[in-house]
Amino acid sequence: MKLASLAVRDPRVRHYNPPHQVPLVAASSFVFDSIEQGMDIFDGKEEGHIYGRFGNPTIDAAAEKIAALEGYGMEGDTYGLFCSSGMAAISTVLLALCQPGHVILTQGDLYGGTSSLLDQLEGRGVKRVVANLRDTEEVEDLLSESADLCVIYVETPSNPTLRCTDLQYLADLAHHYGALLVVDNTFATPIVQQPLTLGADVVVHSTTKYLNGHGSGVAGAIVCRDERMMRDLLTPTYRLFGGSGNPWDAWLVLNGLKTLALRMERHAENALRVANYLEEHAKVAAVNYPGLPDHPDAALIERQMHTHGGMLSFELDGGLETAKQFMNRLTFCTLTPTLGDVDTLVLHPATMSHRGIPPEKRLAYGITDGLVRLSVGIEAVEDILGDLERAIG
Ligand SMILES: Cc1ncc(COP(=O)(O)O)c(C=O)c1O
Repeated sequence: MKLASLAVRDPRVRHYNPPHQVPLVAASSFVFDSIEQGMDIFDGKEEGHIYGRFGNPTIDAAAEKIAALEGYGMEGDTYGLFCSSGMAAISTVLLALCQPGHVILTQGDLYGGTSSLLDQLEGRGVKRVVANLRDTEEVEDLLSESADLCVIYVETPSNPTLRCTDLQYLADLAHHYGALLVVDNTFATPIVQQPLTLGADVVVHSTTKYLNGHGSGVAGAIVCRDERMMRDLLTPTYRLFGGSGNPWDAWLVLNGLKTLALRMERHAENALRVANYLEEHAKVAAVNYPGLPDHPDAALIERQMHTHGGMLSFELDGGLETAKQFMNRLTFCTLTPTLGDVDTLVLHPATMSHRGIPPEKRLAYGITDGLVRLSVGIEAVEDILGDLERAIG
């Protein structure tokens, strides 16, 4: 071999004993021993990797771990896909499950990007029906008129109003109509709530949030219980529409997951302290937190959630100007449009995440100009409370 060729070739990798951590495998394709082996792997007769867009040891490890967490305690297997973003996970699922003429039943107070995706799908013939999914009469009336229901799509707790929806009821209803229940479990994480155990068919995540936990990468995940759905519907769409994640983000998520349970415990502890403080504050009109005993969905929360998570929102007296003043005065909490990181993050839904929603619709979902969303971090709670006290004034 010439020197120039030697420079091109990879050195031998020694596989003596396994590394202590899942290795970050940065490779776009995988080598076959022979053409016969290549054919067998392509045909699924032999397990193996083919091409990075279809999977990779690091990506598959992250997908399997998220699937195992979502399915923990349940009988049977769960199957996962690791995606390039939460939106890639959601669009892969909806593209795989819904055809023109089908109906998606959902709530109005969804993540803004998901609402915009549903606008796009409407332009392609997939109808969206919006209902208050907590109002069983309204839901059942609408369903009796929607013959081609394919999916009920839910976020619970909802963003940013933290209202909770009965997953067991919606799963039964979806199945009664021959449809599927898809749940975005980003806000809760499997530590707080496991939709598959309540009958949901598919769970999606923006792992960008709590599962990564450190704000260091954008990615997503899909989990389901049905092997056939995973093999014949979700996987082909995932591979062909190109929504697969990359090994670096998968590796970051694998690291994040190690402390997920610990972080969620502290997030919830701090969030409850913050919610109690805000409830007592004279300048705060309302506090939305699933851990408060006077939450309007308290009975359901008790049944459906293991703990209460780290997300809350609150309404400042005085509307937009007061909310702006409050956010500009913060020095410890960070104003940024994400959630689920270890530090406390603040977002103003009306001007940020829900900016694209017409004001009359937004107000109908309870997203007022004075509403502020907090992703309560795991810092010393005294620092969070001190910053809020100064900023509310
Ligand atoms: C509840 C929820 N679902 C999905 C998404 C989309 O995730 P990503 O930004 O990773 O595409 C977000 C993003 O903020 C979200 O809050």
